Amino acid sequence: MKLMTNAIVICSFILPFFVNAETLKEAYKDHFLMGTIWHGYKLGNDSRNRYIVKEKGITAAEFNAVTPENCMKPMFIQPEEGVFTFAESDEMIEFAEANNLVVVGHTLVWKNQTPAWFFLDDKGGQVSREVLIERLKMHIRTVVSRYRGRIDYWDVVNEAVAVDRSEGKRNQTASYKSTPWLEIIGPEYIEIAYRTAHEADPSAKLLYNDYNLDTEVKLDFSLALIADLKSRGVPIAGLGYQGHLFLKEPSLTAIERVLRKTKQADVPLHITELDVSVLPNAWEHRSASVEERFKLDKKLNPYPDGVPQKILAEQAKRYSDVFSLLLQYSDNIERVTFWGVWDGNSWRDYRPMLGRTDYPLLIDRKFEKKPAYDAVINLVK
Ligand code: G3I
Repeated sequence: MKLMTNAIVICSFILPFFVNAETLKEAYKDHFLMGTIWHGYKLGNDSRNRYIVKEKGITAAEFNAVTPENCMKPMFIQPEEGVFTFAESDEMIEFAEANNLVVVGHTLVWKNQTPAWFFLDDKGGQVSREVLIERLKMHIRTVVSRYRGRIDYWDVVNEAVAVDRSEGKRNQTASYKSTPWLEIIGPEYIEIAYRTAHEADPSAKLLYNDYNLDTEVKLDFSLALIADLKSRGVPIAGLGYQGHLFLKEPSLTAIERVLRKTKQADVPLHITELDVSVLPNAWEHRSASVEERFKLDKKLNPYPDGVPQKILAEQAKRYSDVFSLLLQYSDNIERVTFWGVWDGNSWRDYRPMLGRTDYPLLIDRKFEKKPAYDAVINLVK
């Protein structure tokens, strides 16, 4: 009898730990990969990241995929022509391998965080098309071949499509985004990038990654771009929908359209940068564009000292609604990656406005699980 009582006491003490011990990667193992980012050693405001050990612990425990937030972007990995700084990327990959994390390389070709030297000749004028193509290929060959066989997915081209809203919401049009890549090389820079990346690592799956795909013209343009590349034998393996969301926008209908149309087009989908801001949208037009920066406005920073429970409950509902959709389309979704490990380290605090306090992720500033975390896990329990 005593033995049985002891067993009950031990079980009731230990069991809740097992029940609570279910992690995101385990809960979603039959659906898709669950990823997060490697924040690296510098925070967005350029101060040292003191929380990297804690972030690594959570990443290893909860996730099975990792994307570098900044260290693989051209500005950090090739700050000067021919000068490559691989130390942090090497470390991230070793960490990933030690913890069985799928690795996503981010990113090879982007308008932002690309040093100016790429586009300039030795007299400071615009570089020629031929030289820029050579620089593009050299960058991709060097970075991709260094990690050949060790990076599972690459965000090869990032954010190459723009939406013109000047004619009003109903008459939006999408086109190639105006960037030095487009202006100097023409749209072929995209094809060159994918072909070069594939030559450097034929086993890596190559993605096209963009934000605001919930805007229909942008989604259609991106899917047409992928279809065109595929029809010409360009190796492209999927679409990345960043998923920088707000509490109320974009609508679930618009999100569902991304999942549905991508599936209809037979293009595997990755949710690459998911977060749900609880702050008012500081952009004139909803966007994750990093080009825009605004002066801090207190009206747009309502929770500097803590977020009300009511808002956390709203956020949990929003995450639950979004994940319900993702589960419906999980046969076409390979991965869902959160753009941040915890609320204390999020780009939302410094973009598009420096000095705000946002709460966009599943883990809070005390490294505790939020209602949003439980909502996401509970859907698959
Ligand atoms: O390290 C430099 C430092 O040398 C310089 O002195 C300082 C001056 O501001 O900047 C430091 O760089 C910062 C960088 O993060 C590294 O910490 C930048 O200011 C800061 O703006 C930059 O922000 C990153 C942003 O991309 C830049 O474009 C965010 O951390 C990162 O989360 C964000 O991620 C992007 C994705 O790559 C693509 N999709 C949108 C997403 C959110 O904007």
